[in-house]
Amino acid sequence: MTDTQVFLNGEYLPSSEAKVSVLDRGFIFGDGVYEVIPAYGNKPFRLEEHFKRLNNSLSAVRIGNPYSEAQWSEIFNKLLADNTGDQSIYLHITRGVAPRDHGFPPETSPTVFVMCSPLKPVATSLLNKGVAAITLDDIRWQYCRIKSISLLPNILLRQEAQDKDATEAILIRDGNMTEGSASNMFIVKNGIIKTPPHSDQLLPGITRDLIVELAHQHGMACEETVITEEELFDADEVWLSSSTKEVLAITQLNQQTVGDGKPGPVWKDMYQHYQVCKQQLREQS
Ligand code: PDD
Repeated sequence: MTDTQVFLNGEYLPSSEAKVSVLDRGFIFGDGVYEVIPAYGNKPFRLEEHFKRLNNSLSAVRIGNPYSEAQWSEIFNKLLADNTGDQSIYLHITRGVAPRDHGFPPETSPTVFVMCSPLKPVATSLLNKGVAAITLDDIRWQYCRIKSISLLPNILLRQEAQDKDATEAILIRDGNMTEGSASNMFIVKNGIIKTPPHSDQLLPGITRDLIVELAHQHGMACEETVITEEELFDADEVWLSSSTKEVLAITQLNQQTVGDGKPGPVWKDMYQHYQVCKQQLREQS
């Protein structure tokens, strides 16, 4: 493992030297929130949108934002400058260090950790073939719009998918599709792109929102609407979206082919529109 520079509580230091207390509430309770921000050409993608979601997550769990946007940007830029190529910024804020007690400690400053990692491009073979997914019961809590570091259900769901040779678990709650274990979901039926609306049942994905925006910009029919499990199985195309996987076609669902078993034409168009957005950011001075 390379010993890259990370940011921890105001300091830049090699990751091997970055240490947090065992009493940190992130470690003890999973009491914190996070963001994953892709960066192209050393520039964070959709930064304003990530800041907005971070603030929403922080206020939902009642942790104050320790930094201004300018301060965050300075941290990101310093870490990004250490590496070349596409990167993902991981930022993590916990309620801080305090004696173990469920209630909030009276005076604790948040723990802040930021690191950058290389963002590997999605393999061409996966883009060409698509990936497999399985459906599972959405066993998570009721505040899925918060980007919480408590990810145990998501981890168990993702592992169950991987154990069945699938890339993602598509989650079903009360007969409707919510999202993936670490991605948002789209279907295409008769040329219409559909994705579930924002709600407490799913993370408002930055990539998801961009895809909806791109669809509108390019005159592609797109609806934010409830999608039943039946509609999912009857879809012509199924896609997942996330900051690290971008938009990826799902061509196998519970071991059955989706549509004709290949990434569909609507996905191809959207994938191109998404690449253009990334390129525009790279070219910005
Ligand atoms: N996860 N839903 C869940 C539960 C997620 O964990 C993610 C992303 C998304 C997609 O959101 P976005 O488009 O903003 O990346 C939806 C990140 C990548 C992760 O935990 O690594």
